[in-house]
Amino acid sequence: MEPVSGGLKSQRRSGVHAVSTFTVMVASPDGALVAEVTSFLAPFGYRVIGVGDSMTGLERIRGERPDLVVADVDLPPLTGFELCQSVKQDPSLLVIPVLLVTDTATDDLRVRALAVGADDLLGRPVHGLILRARVRASLKAKAYLQQVLKDRGRLEELVKERMKDIERVTLGLVAALERTNRFNDADTGMHIRRVSAYSELLARGLELEPSLTSRIARYSSLHDVGKVGLPDSILKKQGKLTPEEFEAMKVHTTFGNEILLDAGADPMACSIAFSHHERFNGSGYPMGLSGNAIPIEARVVALADVFDALTTRRCYKSAIRPEEAFRVVNEESGKHFDPGIVRVLNLCEQQFLQILAANSD
Ligand SMILES: [Fe+2]
Ligand SMILES: [Fe+2]
Repeated sequence: MEPVSGGLKSQRRSGVHAVSTFTVMVASPDGALVAEVTSFLAPFGYRVIGVGDSMTGLERIRGERPDLVVADVDLPPLTGFELCQSVKQDPSLLVIPVLLVTDTATDDLRVRALAVGADDLLGRPVHGLILRARVRASLKAKAYLQQVLKDRGRLEELVKERMKDIERVTLGLVAALERTNRFNDADTGMHIRRVSAYSELLARGLELEPSLTSRIARYSSLHDVGKVGLPDSILKKQGKLTPEEFEAMKVHTTFGNEILLDAGADPMACSIAFSHHERFNGSGYPMGLSGNAIPIEARVVALADVFDALTTRRCYKSAIRPEEAFRVVNEESGKHFDPGIVRVLNLCEQQFLQILAANSD
């Protein structure tokens, strides 16, 4: 009596053999091979189905999902290797074990079989005991693999749910902090809206991933959230800040980062608040980062924010004309701003003007 592959599927024991209820597909144009494999497996309860060519085999594998496939290497119009490869490249089928069978199982052929994802290559005449041992081992490995994939799927779901929670929290924060900002900052709600629209445009032009682009657009509005910690004497000062006041002003970056970190906001929101005053040549603050060491989201928002500051009136300065602002930004390419982002700004000039016109203070 042979041992059973316990716990894989509902099984029962007959008086003589351990009985399986697995379905095995045997794909071969050689009826003798199909009969041979059937004679070794059917007495043990395996349901064996035979197919004579690779195309029918693939079609039935997709339709019937057998538990295991035994395929002849010589399997027109494809080879058994190609059939195996098709199964292993299809995410919905790849857990199905494939055993290849050939007249002469050389080492080279076995290596090729393993390379295309086969569980083994068996030589003919097929040895019944070896075949059944291989079938059982492969089905057991398949069960483990299915469990691992299931666990991974569950984990991915959990991560997605957690990401949604973070997004919800951050969006709530965006709304609440934007309101607070309006009370405390000389900047207007329109500034926030324009910076968000400019940032989205730049991120799109840079061909960033869509999810990255929408997060940049959403969280750019929080870039100056740390200003809630600054006194009105600095925030609403008419005229230039003294060096001491400017030093105090710089703290809004670290403060904004801390507020958002404490609130469990999306790390991208924190990064925008923390790094939007860094400059491409390393002369910015708070860290003095340069080039690509500055997170892309902060490089994008830095340009959007300055472009808006230049083109709109503030309590301490008047606005300059948009064409003048484009010139200033281009002069600062590679110094204050990432040259790649300045290039995108130049390509989007018309859209920038439209956003400015449609969202005036
Ligand atoms: Fe700022
Ligand atoms: Fe700003």
